[in-house]
Amino acid sequence: MVDKELVISEADIQKRVKMLGAAISADYADKPLVLICILNGAFIFMADLARQITPPVEIDFVRVSSYGGNTYSSGTIAFTKDIELDITGKDVLLVEDIVDTGRTLARLKEIFSARKPRSLKICTLINKTERRETEVEIDYFGFAIDHGFLVGYGLDYAEQHRHYPEVYHLLNP
Ligand code: IMP
Ligand code: MG
Repeated sequence: MVDKELVISEADIQKRVKMLGAAISADYADKPLVLICILNGAFIFMADLARQITPPVEIDFVRVSSYGGNTYSSGTIAFTKDIELDITGKDVLLVEDIVDTGRTLARLKEIFSARKPRSLKICTLINKTERRETEVEIDYFGFAIDHGFLVGYGLDYAEQHRHYPEVYHLLNP
């Protein structure tokens, strides 16, 4: 049996995602933006968030992997799928499931900045603060949680648990 403890309920997630969508919509006004979903973890968050955004959006996906079957970042990210849209001159929002050490997003920001978007911002469902190693500016986040290994609503441990509508602490990963 999997030992897990509820951290964020489905209702709280949905309420917060609506608020984020409203804030993002207001900030970008009627300007089109590109949403980039960081696979695999952000797929559920992205699907819900995108439906709360009112300006015109283009959607693309990038895939990076850094964890393997561990609970900490290896430090080197593997870029296994690039986006296909040209983001030059566009307003871009990276959508992530969780920021932990900050390494993944710092690296992705570097890579995408080099393509000269007009703006490049970050939205993460969870901002996990305890293990931050790399300074990275987070423009929008759903929940700040200081520690623990979280699963559900897209977040996995060794590719499992992603399908829960809520977020849980995994007690014995
Ligand atoms: P970072 O590079 O250390 O910030 O790691 C970010 C990536 O690690 C995220 O995209 C997640 O996929 C994964 N990650 C970090 N913390 C957790 C967690 O608590 N549960 C599941 N995945 C996590
Ligand atoms: Mg992940």
